[in-house]
Amino acid sequence: MPIVSTLRWENQTLVLLDQTKLPAEEVYLVCCDYRTVADAIRRLVVRGAPAIGVAAAFGVVLGAVEAVRQRLDPPSALERVFSVLAGTRPTAVNLFWALDRMRKVAEAQQGETSERLVAALEAEALRLYQEDIEANRRLSEHGAALLADGMTVLTICNAGALATVAHGTALGVIRAAVRTGKRIRVVACETRPLLQGARLTTWELMKEGIPATLITDNMAGYVMQQGRVQAVLTGADRIAANGDVVNKIGTYTLAVLAQAHGIPFYVAAPRSTMDLTLADGQSIPIEERTADEITTFGGRRVAPNGVQVYNPAFDLTPARLVTAIVTEAGLLRPEQGRFKLREEGAV
Ligand code: MRU
Repeated sequence: MPIVSTLRWENQTLVLLDQTKLPAEEVYLVCCDYRTVADAIRRLVVRGAPAIGVAAAFGVVLGAVEAVRQRLDPPSALERVFSVLAGTRPTAVNLFWALDRMRKVAEAQQGETSERLVAALEAEALRLYQEDIEANRRLSEHGAALLADGMTVLTICNAGALATVAHGTALGVIRAAVRTGKRIRVVACETRPLLQGARLTTWELMKEGIPATLITDNMAGYVMQQGRVQAVLTGADRIAANGDVVNKIGTYTLAVLAQAHGIPFYVAAPRSTMDLTLADGQSIPIEERTADEITTFGGRRVAPNGVQVYNPAFDLTPARLVTAIVTEAGLLRPEQGRFKLREEGAV
């Protein structure tokens, strides 16, 4: 039994654990149409690169069901569905990867009955769902070898079961190591501004009894200086062919700090997070979110009205700072500061 049910497909609806409400409330949002799915992705009801991709795939199924019900021409109705879902968040490539897979299935069904179209799309979304579980399980087992008994691992954001269909990537690796009997402790950066570390990662780890200590983001350097962590392990939203990693804002800072303190910096991500169309990470779009995420805290305003704000949700960690990338195909290490993801059969 999974410890959390991030998303599930039930009676032709997508049921999402509302992550904006955690940890105070465990409530579910039932999405009966693709617009609700798109809005949920935008608002971070469902979040984390793999989870966004799978949620969008079910959004396409809901869009197809609606088109058939309203007797619309499926190809043109689906165009709108794809464009609304693709417009939700720009950074995690899993979203576009999943939509591409769904688009190929829709194209292959052209000329078939609408029932067949819907059935084929539903089958593909369920395949994506299962593949995500399997990929995370496999990469977790590969990554567990990196963690020694007694280690404390620092992480940022939430790259756990909540960010995937199940298991998680970075937290999946930690879970797998714990399952083999290793005593692993986690230091979770709170992850300003939306507190995925404080709200989600600690919640998820505490449910399983994995020791987790919460720190604010600006404590990471001091914690490393004191020798309190032996590895940094994060997820990713998009990885370019040379191993440049885009992940939650603050990840780059941790990678620089890890190098300065001689601590390994690991990234765990499935193939669906790799974008081999990009030679490096420079052109990965970085989502900028609204100012109120920074100017308010817990619903209270904490900055003067009219203050200028810059709120990038992600940053770019150059491949030269990454010690290894953990994928379902195994552990990848750089050569002279670059990964060769195309050649290494990682995707
Ligand atoms: O803005 P979020 O919460 O969607 O950002 C999530 C992250 O940055 C995760 O680290 C990443 O998606 C990997 S999740 C396995």
